[in-house]
Amino acid sequence: MNLKQISCAFALMASLSASAQQHVMDVNTKKLGAPVSSTMYGLFFEDINYAADGGLYAELVKNRSFEFPNPYTGWDISGKVTLMNDGPFDKNPHYVRLAPSGHRDKHTMIENHGFFGMGVKGGEEYRFSIWARVPDGGNAKLWIDLVDNATMGDDQKLGNASVDVSGKEWKKYTAILKPNRTFAKAHLRVWGDSHVTTDVEHVSLFPVNTYKGRENGMRQDLAKALEDLHPGVFRFPGGCIVEGTDLATRYQWKNTVGPVENRPLNENRWHYTFTNRYFPDYFQTYGLGFFEFFQLCEDFGCEPLPVLSVGLACQFQNGDDAHAKMDELQPFIDDCLDLIEFANGPADSKWGKVRADMGHPAPFNMKYLGIGNEQWDTPYYERLKPFVKAVREKYPNIKIVGTSGPDSEGAMFEKGWVAMKDQKADLVDEHFYRNEEWFLGKAKDRDGNKLNCGALRYDSYDRKGPKVFAGEYACHGRGKKWNHYETSIYEAAFMTGIERNADIVEMATYAPLFAHVEGWQWRPDMIWYDNLRTFNSVSYYVQQMYAMNKGTNVLSLTTKDPADAKGKKTIPVAGQDVLDGLHATAVYEKSTNEVIIKVVNTSMQDQPIKINLLDMKGERTAQTITLKHAGSPNDENTLDNPQMIRPENGTLACSATGKKQQTELNDRVPRLSFRIYKIKK
Ligand code: AHR
Repeated sequence: MNLKQISCAFALMASLSASAQQHVMDVNTKKLGAPVSSTMYGLFFEDINYAADGGLYAELVKNRSFEFPNPYTGWDISGKVTLMNDGPFDKNPHYVRLAPSGHRDKHTMIENHGFFGMGVKGGEEYRFSIWARVPDGGNAKLWIDLVDNATMGDDQKLGNASVDVSGKEWKKYTAILKPNRTFAKAHLRVWGDSHVTTDVEHVSLFPVNTYKGRENGMRQDLAKALEDLHPGVFRFPGGCIVEGTDLATRYQWKNTVGPVENRPLNENRWHYTFTNRYFPDYFQTYGLGFFEFFQLCEDFGCEPLPVLSVGLACQFQNGDDAHAKMDELQPFIDDCLDLIEFANGPADSKWGKVRADMGHPAPFNMKYLGIGNEQWDTPYYERLKPFVKAVREKYPNIKIVGTSGPDSEGAMFEKGWVAMKDQKADLVDEHFYRNEEWFLGKAKDRDGNKLNCGALRYDSYDRKGPKVFAGEYACHGRGKKWNHYETSIYEAAFMTGIERNADIVEMATYAPLFAHVEGWQWRPDMIWYDNLRTFNSVSYYVQQMYAMNKGTNVLSLTTKDPADAKGKKTIPVAGQDVLDGLHATAVYEKSTNEVIIKVVNTSMQDQPIKINLLDMKGERTAQTITLKHAGSPNDENTLDNPQMIRPENGTLACSATGKKQQTELNDRVPRLSFRIYKIKK
């Protein structure tokens, strides 16, 4: 550095420290405010970005029942392989016939590629299963190989097994494969007996080590990542997938329960939306279906929030004639009523029995039902009415979640809220994928009017109407920035407003949840993975920090309004320009008797703060959890560097001041950071 550069650097430092004035906040630790709903922070699951098949659902075989429109999608076939159509499962009737090749040096074989290959770990066990029969009677053998096709010679084989098939009846056969090394792109080969014709169906391979060890289970690492978020609510199955590309491809929960072999295939609503895949292969086997969703909710100790079709196909993609007419709605309404019976009904009721037969005689105790995803205007409002009537009549305790549509403000959004109030929806599902300005409360409409956005958004909401479900949101950075550190900090800032308004906001779920690095069509997303590895985005950690520190009651946290010359008026700490981009909120947690304060610094300079803990006395130690990053605001976690940015624990001494020895917290909040302080009361 030359002299001129050094003096410039000093000048810059001086100007930074001059502008970083201390902000003083008061927390009223005595008066408990509104309860924070136990459902406040949760999960939004949708099968987008290969979130279910190829993602959370641990099945490694793609097109296991040969039901894709091209029945051999995902398969290589060799020799005498014939597609048949009268199999043992009426909703998935296809299977393949493996006939002898007719020559000792030829073979009949099928080989599955998995989803972007199959990720297998050396030394771990994988459960192979297959339905098979010998159509002419007698015995046959099937050889099973797990292979690495990139390697030649003996090293190609990662593991092998065989099953002995006998008789003309369809039966399920299983074998354990134990790969000798880890490989992300394995294939599964099934060889027919060279002398006997053998029929095979529902070819499946799962890790034995699934989440909770279930045979039809979930990927251990991904399910654990969800559990570690400590969700209070779990919304499923979407998203637009509820509506489908058209009505025919909407999500129909009844097709997703019962034996997995007989859950009919559905074309995924996101099938046609890949920019890099002109021949997509995105289907839903429903192996992860409604039973499994409810089971996960039970595992995580959170409330299930299923969302069902209101009889509208996706309004973005379809004209008026694509929807169910008003006099065609009864089957859709029945789907809602039957779902409540499936989840909550006695084990001897029609749908309760389906649940009991799947191994869960006890009810799932479902309390919420979403009707319609991102619907808008009269076609939605008029259809919703008979649903509300029917559910209210039969199940008055179920809370109904309506929607304000895809906009976060504007005429249609307002109209949606009015309609939801009229129909007395319990909650309104709002969606906002918006940019940095919006999350920081600075966005304007085309006419230059300030939008109701950022951390102050909910301060002005009508307290007498339905509650808010912020059902899908994420900060989408300008300039194609995704999941980068800075936008996650802005999400944290916005969420102070959710927490401060816990009297009106009952739940909030970031979206979308999952993305496979080789098969995504939407970003940012909360959790990313390939076939073997996973990483949590910074947004994940923001969500986790809130969910694990949500508290039981809001506490008032204010600062003096710098614009008020008399110095009497107080305002929430919500990052107005005068507060130098600081956002803060406070809650009380009954079980631990702690005051929990969250402070987000969205500015690019460290900020000195003082927090007066009114009605608390004496010196104390605050536990701190900090999300900060010394590198670029554009950095993000990756598969190769999954822990680059994550929360760190620490402590901070709080002093006691004045005659009353009031507890006082002094800190310097790092630039662009999110810090939580927990102080025993
Ligand atoms: O989360 C992705 C999509 O965004 C959802 O399917 C839809 O509800 C919204 O438009």
